[in-house]
Amino acid sequence: MADLATRFGEIFGPGEPVRVVRGPGRVNLIGEHTDYNGGFVMPMALEAAVRLALVPHDEPTVTLWSEQFAERASFQLGGEPPADPPHWLRYPMAVAEVLAEEGVALRGFRAVLDGDVPVGSGLSSSAAYEVASALAFLVAAKVEIAAGPAKVAAEAHGLSTERLAVLCQSAEHRVGVRCGIMDQFISLHGRKGHAIVLDCRDLSYEPVPLPSDRAKVVIIDSGVRRKLTSGAYNERRSQCEEGAGRLRKFDSDIEQLRDVSIEVFQAHESALPQIVRRRCRHVVTENARVIQSIEALGSGDLERFGKLLDASHDSLRDDYEVSGPELDLLVRIARGTEGVLGSRLTGAGFGGCTVSLVRPDAVETLREAVLARYQEQSGYEPRIWTSEAADGAAVEV
Ligand code: GLA
Repeated sequence: MADLATRFGEIFGPGEPVRVVRGPGRVNLIGEHTDYNGGFVMPMALEAAVRLALVPHDEPTVTLWSEQFAERASFQLGGEPPADPPHWLRYPMAVAEVLAEEGVALRGFRAVLDGDVPVGSGLSSSAAYEVASALAFLVAAKVEIAAGPAKVAAEAHGLSTERLAVLCQSAEHRVGVRCGIMDQFISLHGRKGHAIVLDCRDLSYEPVPLPSDRAKVVIIDSGVRRKLTSGAYNERRSQCEEGAGRLRKFDSDIEQLRDVSIEVFQAHESALPQIVRRRCRHVVTENARVIQSIEALGSGDLERFGKLLDASHDSLRDDYEVSGPELDLLVRIARGTEGVLGSRLTGAGFGGCTVSLVRPDAVETLREAVLARYQEQSGYEPRIWTSEAADGAAVEV
């Protein structure tokens, strides 16, 4: 990935000045399945990212070479979509569509696409890809945009990064998942050394410093892959909407589950069908856990923060039912390891990764415990790494 500009020359021929843009993946620390309920989330951007090395040209064609798939594919801007595009081409196609509808003048380009965010692992490779694609379009259309944070490129087109996040989210909706705003937002607004607390209703946000000298963020990939588009995600979302709709009868100010306190939920939960009740209980309590996590981090109480992560997982497993035997096993191994403060699944669930908060001197012990037990018991090979919180998307070159 290091020298994507050189790869551009190898694939498309040398000689032209190459621009490089980057959209990072993310890990969500807490606040799962709260975003599309108007609630709070606390993700951080990762060092792992999707990058595009591009050279604009005057034809209205976008041609991409994917390093991962060793495949070339093209589409016309504003033209008929290709008959059967590879799945990976659908993302930049959708991004081009939403940007054009927003009034952004688009210009064609050729680009090499590469990334090290594992696909389908709950670390938002698709949001990273949408954001990187959006930056590629912004830079291609205005080559005078200097290297720097995404904000500069967005503002050169009269857009805010908040708006750009919303546009990338609608691109994702067109590809198939009715996702919330968290992933695209954090990919654009990440801050080195910090998590971000985002209010998904009004998109106000606050960086929260992470004390990496006292606790590391350890990500463990279960190796289990399940496509979000399988419908389970969209089904959860509808169940939440149904719950909010039923609770509105008791209080007309309830628009989304974000507006339901634990007390109000408890007073009226018996009016909800069984499954909807459990889904709502997760969202309402998870939202409260994010608020408590802000307090815990603010007062340096990492033990308390860790317990909130544990409670989040249990709620996702029992009430939201988006965990699975492999994620549960990883969480159990982590919780049984001295120096692990808390552990939970991260992202949508149904496979993917766990995130654990770990005392620095216990990271190795956790790694050994996982290597000793996980594959033998689950049949899947785990991947374990730590990541510092990284900056959000940028034009790198
Ligand atoms: C996926 C979606 C997000 C969010 C999470 C669950 O990552 O893209 O919007 O809903 O799942 O918290």
